[in-house]
Amino acid sequence: MNLFSVVTLGELQLANRVVMAPLTRMRSGDAGVPGDLVVEHYAQRASLGLIITEGTYPNSESQGFVGQPGIVTDEQVAGWRRVAEAVHARGGRIVMQVMHAGRVTHPDVNGGRQVVGPSAIAIEGAGHTSTGKQAYPVPHALSVEESRATLADIVAAAERAVEAGLDGVEVHSANGYLLHEFLSPASNQRTDVCGGSPENRARFVVEVVTAVAEAIGAGRVGLRVSPEHNIQDALETDRADVRATYGALVDQLRPLGLAYLSILHSEPAGKLVQELRQRFGGPLIANSGFGTVTTRAEAVQLIEAAHADAVAVGRLALANPDLVKRWSGEHPENDPDAGTFYGAGAEGYTDYPTLELSRR
Ligand SMILES: Cc1cc2nc3c(=O)[nH]c(=O)nc-3n(C[C@H](O)[C@H](O)[C@H](O)COP(=O)(O)O)c2cc1C
Repeated sequence: MNLFSVVTLGELQLANRVVMAPLTRMRSGDAGVPGDLVVEHYAQRASLGLIITEGTYPNSESQGFVGQPGIVTDEQVAGWRRVAEAVHARGGRIVMQVMHAGRVTHPDVNGGRQVVGPSAIAIEGAGHTSTGKQAYPVPHALSVEESRATLADIVAAAERAVEAGLDGVEVHSANGYLLHEFLSPASNQRTDVCGGSPENRARFVVEVVTAVAEAIGAGRVGLRVSPEHNIQDALETDRADVRATYGALVDQLRPLGLAYLSILHSEPAGKLVQELRQRFGGPLIANSGFGTVTTRAEAVQLIEAAHADAVAVGRLALANPDLVKRWSGEHPENDPDAGTFYGAGAEGYTDYPTLELSRR
């Protein structure tokens, strides 16, 4: 298999297997509306096989970052419609990563609303807010009724994403945010049917993904997980428990026929990821995480060895709008500038040059 060959993920037809990983960039202002800059940024990257948007909040309390876009208000839907149209006009495909931040936020980020999680356990440390760095609060543990309402909000967000013209939705269940908090035994200490055993901890994620698939069609829905990522205190340090939890999750998702499963794990070709892929039974998008920047060689190897159907590329897609052209022709790359990853206007966002421009 070739990294630059076409591939079909559910109802998504990709021109190549280089996928733009979801990348939070915080350039959507206080109203969370993607504007001209965001439209330009994504349009520039339309030649990637699939764009997965930055994590986008499905209801106001779930906003995790200042300047993060939402998919709640009509203005936000209209902003995303412009993004989708611009990407489609250049022949690209784009799905929205719907992200509920769970306990990884603060009232000075989410407009003074409550911060929620599966259990009333705070993350250690502090996060960026509109008033500087502040300690993470103890979250309110979602009641059964509140978790139903949260599920309904995520479903409604997925419907709005499709209404805005996006090609589908990726449910964010990775990196320590709400859905991942349900999976991890450290952040989920519930005593109801959504806590305790691995099957119980997987339950809420299964319910959310199933409901989203019913609402917009499974062929347009992907799921991102990051087992053993051990980030933001959503710790998963017992391999047997991880296998049982994520195994229960993917076994129950298998009959749905989702577009894809996206796994962030340091060893995409290793036993755990390949077992989950096999049990899931559908397309796998792989990413080896933050430790090292995904390289061309790594992406080529993952596809040629058939360890994945597509590769999610983060930092190099951020720094190279024409990454596919550069990689397919083995041209040099722009280096990502970490200083402008988050919320700094056009600089480090829409001004990375294409190959032609960098040669001038
Ligand atoms: C600036 C930045 C923002 C990110 N935002 C998100 C996000 O919103 N959702 C998500 O699932 N992962 C997010 N990630 C993780 C990336 O999707 C990806 O897994 C990570 O960058 C490792 O891949 P790479 O080595 O190709 O960069 C982010 C990473 C970076 C560097």
